[in-house]
Amino acid sequence: MRILVTGSNGQLGQEFKNNVSNSDHEFFFTDENDLDITEKKEILDCVTIYKIELIINCAAYTNVNDAETNKRQAIKVNIDAVRNLVEVCEEKKIKMIHFSTDYVYNSDNLNPINEDSNINPTNYYGISKREGEKIIEKSASDSIIIRTSWLYSMYGNNFVKTMIKKGEKGEKIYVINDQFGCPTYSKDLVDCTLNIIVSNKLNKYKVYNFSNEGYTNWYDFTKKIFELKKINCPIIAVNSDKYKSIANRPKYSITDKSRIKNIFNITIRNWNEALEEFIINHK
Ligand SMILES: NC(=O)c1ccc[n+]([C@@H]2O[C@H](COP(=O)([O-])OP(=O)(O)OC[C@H]3O[C@@H](n4cnc5c(N)ncnc54)[C@H](OP(=O)(O)O)[C@@H]3O)[C@@H](O)[C@H]2O)c1
Repeated sequence: MRILVTGSNGQLGQEFKNNVSNSDHEFFFTDENDLDITEKKEILDCVTIYKIELIINCAAYTNVNDAETNKRQAIKVNIDAVRNLVEVCEEKKIKMIHFSTDYVYNSDNLNPINEDSNINPTNYYGISKREGEKIIEKSASDSIIIRTSWLYSMYGNNFVKTMIKKGEKGEKIYVINDQFGCPTYSKDLVDCTLNIIVSNKLNKYKVYNFSNEGYTNWYDFTKKIFELKKINCPIIAVNSDKYKSIANRPKYSITDKSRIKNIFNITIRNWNEALEEFIINHK
């Protein structure tokens, strides 16, 4: 298959770039400079010229705090541009794999959330991602949405890299201990996506959850990062009421991955194991 990856300078996009060398498919990686997904004509031209059969959309507006004040940009990239991609998929009869977020949910307990659970985004980023999802859900093309969470990788900025940097400076660190979620090593998400492509079963469901198995809170996650990285730095657990951020975050975001595991016959490793591999390779 001829596969277009958008937003390939982001952390997930870069993970794809670094993990497809053994693939039988032909990949075309584009970042915003080569292909701005807010411009439908650019997508259409690219898909036509390179005879693209599948789009993996890694492009998004992902700054959760900034989205509260820069709603216009969140709408442009997470909603309007998704409409552009969907329209091109329909016109050219091609498929898309799109990524969304656990922030579309907002549970009040630790029970695993499945794809049919209540949708109730608590911040504007989540709202914009949900609106983008709706366009794909209504689309006639065999396109799917993978909702992921707490994504980290070797690339770009993410919680794990930030904590390592802070920890290595040896400063006292305050970390929230009352928000629970499922970390996702981007390499595992890429492997899962490549399995999905091979399975050729994009017409089963529109929405799937994916993260590593198990769950944690930001404080315990940080403790594990420091233990594995052998960082000796004081960490102080704080309540989210005492550590206000611009955008609200859900307190409980434990996703149920049964659907993706069953349909695509994949196993997902625990977040501890994935983190261990990340830390071994992190320089
Ligand atoms: N990171 C997380 O914890 C997390 C959690 C749940 C879900 N997700 C979802 O997972 C996906 C990948 O996230 P990520 O962490 O890899 O995000 P990321 O690192 O922010 O990458 C997104 C990429 O999209 C690019 N982009 C922005 N506007 C664009 C446009 N108009 N045209 C083309 N490219 C554009 C960005 O370029 P610039 O940087 O130059 O703007 C960036 O390179 C997203 O859909 C995100 O919503 C992420």
